[in-house]
Amino acid sequence: MRMIFVGPPGAGKGTQAARLVEHFAIPHISSGDMLRAAVKEGTALGVEADGYMKRGDLVPDAVVIGMIVERIGKADAATGFMLDGFPRTRPQAEALDVALTAAGVKLDAVVLLEVPDSLIVERIVWRRTDPDTGTIYHLKFSPPESDEIAARLQQRKDDTEEACINRLSKYHGETAPIVPFYEAQGILRRVDGVGAPDEITARLLTSLQH
Ligand code: AP5
Ligand code: MG
Repeated sequence: MRMIFVGPPGAGKGTQAARLVEHFAIPHISSGDMLRAAVKEGTALGVEADGYMKRGDLVPDAVVIGMIVERIGKADAATGFMLDGFPRTRPQAEALDVALTAAGVKLDAVVLLEVPDSLIVERIVWRRTDPDTGTIYHLKFSPPESDEIAARLQQRKDDTEEACINRLSKYHGETAPIVPFYEAQGILRRVDGVGAPDEITARLLTSLQH
């Protein structure tokens, strides 16, 4: 299974990806997670990406395309992968097509996880992540199971209301145009991302069955 997860910030891509990659036994390739790791390690790529990410702007295409094309060329992605957060612009989608065609493979599905803007800010500002396990929590909707976990949770630097609003506007302006690109290829599946996480996982699995 070679698939892409598209959706606005806070749609639940990371939450659902963690479940689906287990089901399909494929690597979860999150451009956002890779960039945050680079920022943390202080690599040249991380230093370049940091300012864009904090503001909620997109990191330049050339930086992200190189990073992802290299990652999907690794052995563990040879038979499948889930891309989360990439592609995010039309040039990224086109570059991915070129790389996959060169490798002689095709995408099986592009899933668009749909959540209205009115729900996004609340999902984002209460999000916390466990640095030890990578588990994504929400202080209201899916709180940590123990005080020990609660004490170590971290908040992303771009999870302020201001950056979130900018991320949403970038999503509508730059990322939404990739939807018709994949619709024209006949591989787009729209899935409602509103509801309990278990319900959404079930919808995703159903949509990926055919
Ligand atoms: P990235 O890390 O990809 O962020 P994003 O797309 O904005 O998406 P999020 O990770 O914020 O949301 P999500 O959909 O994963 O939701 P989650 O499951 O966590 O990118 C960050 C930045 O990196 C970008 O702004 C850009 O600067 C840069 N970047 C990354 N890729 C790039 C690219 N390709 N090109 C250029 N720049 C790039 O859920 C959110 C919250 O909601 C959590 O608290 C969760 O617990 C809760 N939640 C989940 N499901 C539900 C539910 N069903 N009901 C209620 N709450 C829920
Ligand atoms: Mg995410």
